[in-house]
Amino acid sequence: MNVLDSELAAGELIKAGYVPVTAKRHADIVLFNTCSIRQHAEDKIYSALGRLKHWKDQKPDAVIGVMGCMAQKDRELIFKRAPHVDLVIGPGQLHRLAETIDFVEKDREKRIEVSLNRVRQSHQEVKDSFEQYDPLRLEQTRTNPFQAMVRIMFGCNKFCSYCIVPSVRGPEQSRSPREIETEVKQLADQGCLEITLIGQTVNSYKFDDGNKSRTLADLFEMIHEVNGIRRIRFVTSYPIGMDDRLLLAIRDLPKVMPFIHVPAQSGSDTVLQRMRRHYTAREYHDLIRRIYDTIPGVSVTSDFIVGFCGETENEFEETMQMVRDCRFKNSFIFKYSARPGTKAAELYQDDIPESVKKTRNNQLLELQNEISAELNRQFVGKNIEILVEGTSKNASKQLHQIGFSGIGFSETKKTEKAEKIVQLTGRTPCDRIVVLDGSPHLAGKILSVEIVQAAPFTLFGKLDNP
Ligand code: 5AD
Ligand code: SF4
Repeated sequence: MNVLDSELAAGELIKAGYVPVTAKRHADIVLFNTCSIRQHAEDKIYSALGRLKHWKDQKPDAVIGVMGCMAQKDRELIFKRAPHVDLVIGPGQLHRLAETIDFVEKDREKRIEVSLNRVRQSHQEVKDSFEQYDPLRLEQTRTNPFQAMVRIMFGCNKFCSYCIVPSVRGPEQSRSPREIETEVKQLADQGCLEITLIGQTVNSYKFDDGNKSRTLADLFEMIHEVNGIRRIRFVTSYPIGMDDRLLLAIRDLPKVMPFIHVPAQSGSDTVLQRMRRHYTAREYHDLIRRIYDTIPGVSVTSDFIVGFCGETENEFEETMQMVRDCRFKNSFIFKYSARPGTKAAELYQDDIPESVKKTRNNQLLELQNEISAELNRQFVGKNIEILVEGTSKNASKQLHQIGFSGIGFSETKKTEKAEKIVQLTGRTPCDRIVVLDGSPHLAGKILSVEIVQAAPFTLFGKLDNP
């Protein structure tokens, strides 16, 4: 969500006449897009803001802004902790970004634009205060021209007890299929091959126009018809509401990729209850079995929180067992971080010592890595279709930093040989990363490669004709 918001905000500012720069010393405006999901994410922003104090003293006309979830959550506190910040703007107010910067620059006054607090006002008022923000897209602000995220819904109504997202991203709201279709067609016209539909609980997508109610499966069918789009992905799914129609749509529509990110968070019923996830470990297992039974070649990934309030050794062992049984392609594992304002912070003690959280985190990660490696080894010797995304990470990251220019290859032009063959990365339908040698011109192509080697997070491929 934040990556997409950053892309859209950068596009909005470019349209308003601003130019991205490569170094802070050239900047007149510095904006941080922030995350509140764990304390660590917030700490990083406050220390980055601290490091700008001296810069702002030297350049008093510069504007420093904090956007995103931390802006919505901390509001005026940001001005207190970092008095050199000029503007604070929540994720439901991003459509006001350019005008708010104008205001700050002209009037030299601090400005705060946030949405209503969820508990205080009526549901409709709160909903209206989190405004949709998906302006038409600018190609140059995307990491690469072939892939794009499209938001299909905002906010979340699940209120898992540990999670700050429902308060900072607001009530769940689905965008209209027509708007989504227009955006996807525009992206296809810009040369985009792969669309990732995003939402906090993407399978809860529901849009009722008075006549007909549309679901995620309907969106898949609609986007499937868009010329130029070759791959459709979607994140993040919630374990409840993955009905057969959705799974069959994933199986039967060839452009919908066989990959599902569906976080379990814990393998223990008692922890799941305290987390207010509304399903049991058994129900989650049944879902995973149904996914594997229905969709050939599917891969599934999950998120887990370790060291949640009161988590016993037995409860943690149940999570280990879930990871053994479900054979996820990979899992994202997080140490519980208490978030003030959530039910868990109100009701339970954050009583698991940091050292225990760390040990459990490492144990679960080690187990998952073994499984990931095992699953990856099955691909060795097989041919598989990949979308070539560009050069391998470091090169494309550098290029991204120098002005959102998409894929470029200046790094490799030094020698005759390097000009022709670079290290490329691509992705399989089931979302595995493939590293291979090939010509830079292959970026944006969908091709078949032979897998020659496997590591836990990466497959290594070979082209017949690189
Ligand atoms: N502490 C640790 N991890 C969290 N997540 C959400 N809230 C917290 C928290 N308070 C994790 C969940 C979620 C992922 C995006 O972040 O696993 O799926
Ligand atoms: Fe947070 Fe739960 Fe909503 Fe995911 S489903 S964003 S974990 S409240």
